[in-house]
Amino acid sequence: MSQQRTFSIIKPDAVKTGHAGDIIALLEKAGFKILALRMTRLTEKQAQGFYAVHREKGFFPSLVRFMTEGPIIVMALERESAIQKLREVMGATNPANAAEGTIRKSFAESIERNCIHGSDAPETAEVELRYFFSTLDLQN
Ligand code: CMP
Repeated sequence: MSQQRTFSIIKPDAVKTGHAGDIIALLEKAGFKILALRMTRLTEKQAQGFYAVHREKGFFPSLVRFMTEGPIIVMALERESAIQKLREVMGATNPANAAEGTIRKSFAESIERNCIHGSDAPETAEVELRYFFSTLDLQN
């Protein structure tokens, strides 16, 4: 397969506990090229927009509160089969079910405070990349 882009967020829990560097190192070790990276802090509206597909879920208000509680690091990542590979190295959504050596097994606290986000499909990856990055940002 050819090179593919995906989108990732190091979430507020991992930034706060000082694991951003560990997570970036694991991503680089897994062969991801960092195309773009920025620290930012989501407003309530931005978090609601980003997670709009989950707005009917019971955990939505809590998820929005969590994602706005502190700074996050947004990243555009590239490698072969990037979307699938990122989901492998992140591990299961619930860290209790994540395999040994995955990012969530190593650093996540709970199914909600799960330290990292990764796009789940090519269409969502493009939408999510465009939520945070411009064409110029992504040309590296
Ligand atoms: P993420 O991969 O960013 O996609 C949606 C997020 O919602 C997920 O990671 C978790 O942070 C959160 N989430 C998913 N399922 C649950 C759940 N059952 N309870 C609380 N939070 C959840």
